[in-house]
Amino acid sequence: MLVIEDFGYKVIIGHGVLGKLVDALNPGASSVCIVADERVYSIHGQKLISCLPETMRVEKITFPPGEAGKTRQTKEFIEDTMLGAGLDRDTNVLSFGGGVTSDLAGFVAGTYMRGIQWTSVPTSLLAAVDASLGGKTGVDTKYGKNLVGMIHQPRAVLIDVDLLSTLPAGEVENGLAEMVKHAVLADRSYLSSLVRAGPMFTSDPVHSVDLIAESVKIKAIFAAHDIHDHGTRRILNFGHTIGHALELATGYGISHGRAVSIGMCAELWAAVISGLFESADLEYVCQALLNLGLPVSLPKGVSPEEILQAMTMDKKRANGRIFISLPRGMGKPYANMERPVVVVQEDTVLSALEKVAK
Ligand code: GLY
Repeated sequence: MLVIEDFGYKVIIGHGVLGKLVDALNPGASSVCIVADERVYSIHGQKLISCLPETMRVEKITFPPGEAGKTRQTKEFIEDTMLGAGLDRDTNVLSFGGGVTSDLAGFVAGTYMRGIQWTSVPTSLLAAVDASLGGKTGVDTKYGKNLVGMIHQPRAVLIDVDLLSTLPAGEVENGLAEMVKHAVLADRSYLSSLVRAGPMFTSDPVHSVDLIAESVKIKAIFAAHDIHDHGTRRILNFGHTIGHALELATGYGISHGRAVSIGMCAELWAAVISGLFESADLEYVCQALLNLGLPVSLPKGVSPEEILQAMTMDKKRANGRIFISLPRGMGKPYANMERPVVVVQEDTVLSALEKVAK
């Protein structure tokens, strides 16, 4: 078991750490309100309940799985169910699930009776290495993803790797892409470790705890001292400007992990063209992504021009210029904290996208 406190609260990682659940709750909690999607709750719910004292008041609120439910309506449903059950300010919200769940549960906790405590138990690799860390919470609107929300830090995050061992491959790749991003930004040797362990490491007890812990520590380097995302945290958007545009251009027909993987390759090309990144390192990263089973080129039928167009809709593009987070060197955390957002000309991004076009 590992305990990381770089975010200012405990992130506990290990096998069977769900057994530590009571220690991760507010000691004065009058009740616990579990927030989970129906799928996760049906698979792991009983295990979670068995870790809570029988004497504790426990409410459970579930909702249908999927990003489509990350809305103000679902938030209202959770809040009204909590109010209807008479839950007070001493309730500890317990987020149990992937990124959609922690975004919703954390946002509910942040505004319920002007803010109550919450604890996060991620059940997806993406939530374990990224979404559950750093307090970003919120919902999607018809105008775009994550446009309404707040920063509300959990009181603890409990990453029980046994919950991750049954994830489908598609879910694993969403987390893997973020782990590769962390390696590029802060630690070259971490990328070799990921490749050595391979994409199925979540089912391999020898590797998963250390590899997940490394990602938690790297995320903290950039996010723990910039929780409101005005400075160094923005470098964590590396791969996501083009990745989000690709998701939009394909009508979300590509997984987040695959889109970010292609986004990282294209953005590294933009960094190489801008003189910020070595081309040999770009090749190393793209080969590592391929070895991990992640794509490095645009899907058939998606053109560089379409991606640029999608960036306009994402408001990252203005007057022929694009605001983008590009690394300044492979595995160089301090260099990558400097000026995390750069302005590049549209032509540079178009040339970069052409490099990853099939
Ligand atoms: N997922 C990036 C961040 O938390 O800033």
